Amino acid sequence: MNVPTQKPVLSDDVLSRFEVATEDGSGLPNECYTSDQWLAEENRKVFARTWMLAGFCHDVPEKGDASPVWMAGMPLVILRDNAGEIRVFHNVCRHRGAVIVPEKCSGQRMLTCPYHAWAYGLDGKLRSRPHFYGGGKHDTDPAPGTSDMLPVRHAVWHDLIFVDLSGEAPDFDDHWAPFAQRTKDYDFGALRYAATLDFDVKGNWKLIYENFYDAYHVPAVHPRLEAFTPITERIGVQTEGPWFHNTSLITEPQEGRGIGMPFYPGLDETGQKTEWYFHLFPTTCIQIWPDQMAIFQLHALAPDRTVEHIHMYFVGDAASEPDYAKQRQDVYDMWDELNTEDFKIVENMQMARNSPGFDGGVLSPFWDPATQHFARLMADMMR
Ligand code: FES
Ligand SMILES: [Fe+2]
Repeated sequence: MNVPTQKPVLSDDVLSRFEVATEDGSGLPNECYTSDQWLAEENRKVFARTWMLAGFCHDVPEKGDASPVWMAGMPLVILRDNAGEIRVFHNVCRHRGAVIVPEKCSGQRMLTCPYHAWAYGLDGKLRSRPHFYGGGKHDTDPAPGTSDMLPVRHAVWHDLIFVDLSGEAPDFDDHWAPFAQRTKDYDFGALRYAATLDFDVKGNWKLIYENFYDAYHVPAVHPRLEAFTPITERIGVQTEGPWFHNTSLITEPQEGRGIGMPFYPGLDETGQKTEWYFHLFPTTCIQIWPDQMAIFQLHALAPDRTVEHIHMYFVGDAASEPDYAKQRQDVYDMWDELNTEDFKIVENMQMARNSPGFDGGVLSPFWDPATQHFARLMADMMR
């Protein structure tokens, strides 16, 4: 995809604040959180130019299953083809531009456009154009390659499907390497998808993402979490390119975290007491516990509205059994409680982004280098 470049949206003065010591710098200014133009530019320059979590293999478990998703403001369709492989296409008909697959569907041999019934194979190739030359005069063998669905570059990691709409992002394995290197001991193949929790938040997606990795707010916002791991034992998140990561020790079983559920097979003693937080710029978060994984996914719908999904996985087939129903529910309730606490702050800050009393803020040298790093990543992509 050809993405035109434009001049920086941020002024030189603002950009300079991302390049100095954190205590002398700042985060992103107000307009980045409130302006429709910013979100339009983010769709084009950020979400369409890096690897984005688009969907899940479990959404299309069988050949002929198709699932529409929206990424960077564009309709895409994820499907499983006749060979059982995942494919991703721009979900738009080459005739007059209707969305071809408006709803999730299964058992399809062809994808038929709802407008004039052009039919595409599961490989995206145009197969037929009914009445194309007049009533009853069908085109059943369209010239190859003229009007096929456009494929989207994608990568599959276990259940997760990532897309790069530009086709020009770095190699996925290189992009993923900082995560892969730190999680070699985890047998992610043992994970089983369990449930998705959905939240609709009156706040900008960046406020939610920035809050993901902010360990500083825990004592004031999450009293239950603070009781388990006090702020004196927390550190600021570390960064490596598009990755933000943090880890802490689980000193004792924590109520609401699934006590007694099966661990990843072969996890050593240290691993059994370790929690990992990974945040992949711009909209994904991966939390790993010895017995689970939570995938956070953000969809920016408006400058002041974001939908968040938390996709929950537990370890091994047994974790899906009724025996563990209470533990699973405890985990969902815990996320619900934590998110409700977080979103209250996010919505609070969204309102404050209209104030001249804030325009990027003053940062803590201990806790906020990641916020400055995030601003730098955004500025780099928005150039
Ligand atoms: S728009 Fe799809 S067949 Fe006409
Ligand atoms: Fe929080």
